[in-house]
Amino acid sequence: MKMKMMMMMTLSQYTFWILLMFSISIASCSTIPSLGGPQIGINYGQYSSNLGDPEIGINYGHYGSNLPPPEALPSLVNSLSIKHVKTFDLDPRITKSFANTGITLSLCIPNDKIPSLASNSSEAESIIRNFILPYHKNTIITSISVGNEVSLLPQFSTHLVSAIVNVHRAIKKYRLHKKIKVTTTHSLAILSRRFPPSTAIFHKSIGDSVLKPLLRFLQRTNSPLMVNVYPYLAYKQSFPSIPLEFALFQPMNSPTRRRYIDPYSGVAYTNLFDIMLDSVDSAVKSLGLPKIPVVVSEIGWPSSGDPGESAANLENARVFNQRLIEHLRRRWNKVRVYIFALFDEDQKTGATVEKHWGLLFGNGSRKYDLNI
Ligand SMILES: *[C@@H]1O[C@H](CO)[C@@H](O)[C@H](O)[C@H]1NC(C)=O
Ligand SMILES: *[C@@H]1O[C@H](CO)[C@@H](O)[C@H](O)[C@H]1NC(C)=O
Repeated sequence: MKMKMMMMMTLSQYTFWILLMFSISIASCSTIPSLGGPQIGINYGQYSSNLGDPEIGINYGHYGSNLPPPEALPSLVNSLSIKHVKTFDLDPRITKSFANTGITLSLCIPNDKIPSLASNSSEAESIIRNFILPYHKNTIITSISVGNEVSLLPQFSTHLVSAIVNVHRAIKKYRLHKKIKVTTTHSLAILSRRFPPSTAIFHKSIGDSVLKPLLRFLQRTNSPLMVNVYPYLAYKQSFPSIPLEFALFQPMNSPTRRRYIDPYSGVAYTNLFDIMLDSVDSAVKSLGLPKIPVVVSEIGWPSSGDPGESAANLENARVFNQRLIEHLRRRWNKVRVYIFALFDEDQKTGATVEKHWGLLFGNGSRKYDLNI
């Protein structure tokens, strides 16, 4: 009875959260499960008081005109106090440019290689021999993503696990498997239900067939699950039911600070990022698998967009990235993130917003101050 009253209070106090429930479950036709026997409670355990160095990395995409040459990258990355870089290919010029810099590199094998990597193990060996062996002694390569956001594309996903296994075998053959992890990156579209976070699940079409064997491989090889987490997109897709401040990591001392409490787990959330990350953990659990370390392979906020995308502006981009860094410093459950992205990319096609995720303009000057 007491529980029921608390439930009702929560619901009436935060009516907009109900809207939120409906709208975050984008792409999912499922209705909200019945609220039988909810565990209501508040979990303050999300933060610890000791501040550690957050692990901040950055994505280097190169679809921009007049971007600085690869040789100029390390000093630009250093000037941002960033120590980890993720790329979208295996370009040897980039790999070489980070030699002896102390900056770690996460590389990516392009999607179109996946089918042949799956069927031909010599192909995997040849890639490692040509793109990794000559460079790994001087450049710290920490991981290789086999493809980018392909898990929902059947022409790639049916070959994905075999391709990853072959790449790992090749890495192992050259005794680099302790240093270099083999994985792949996912968009959060792999979740068919995201909300409440404790009830999140993967799309049925790939849950058992692709993700289960993939996650088992990652667990066996001590490799991270990489997911791209975009609170901006979740906010935009469910506008106006998620308050902007909730997506922008509300400041700790704000008098209007809102909390969403997951009715099943009792965990209290003060920002969209934590909800999105926990939904990944829940989906992994729903496959009957143990928790796996997650790396956020992309995260960011655009500084400009088409008319109607008013939340995509310079100030929000600065606030999001700055508060993200502060949040990661306080977060008890440490997670590495790669901010998207180093540069604005004016040659990207699609919506205007695609071109404006950079911390730097194409010419290398800073778009806004960020304290990392
Ligand atoms: C397998 O890959 C190797 C190395 O790239 C290549 O020489 C060979 O032709 C490939 N085999 C097939 C059947 O495609
Ligand atoms: C770099 O580009 C931005 C945006 O186009 C411009 O405002 C800025 O003045 C440029 N900086 C330099 C040093 O050229």
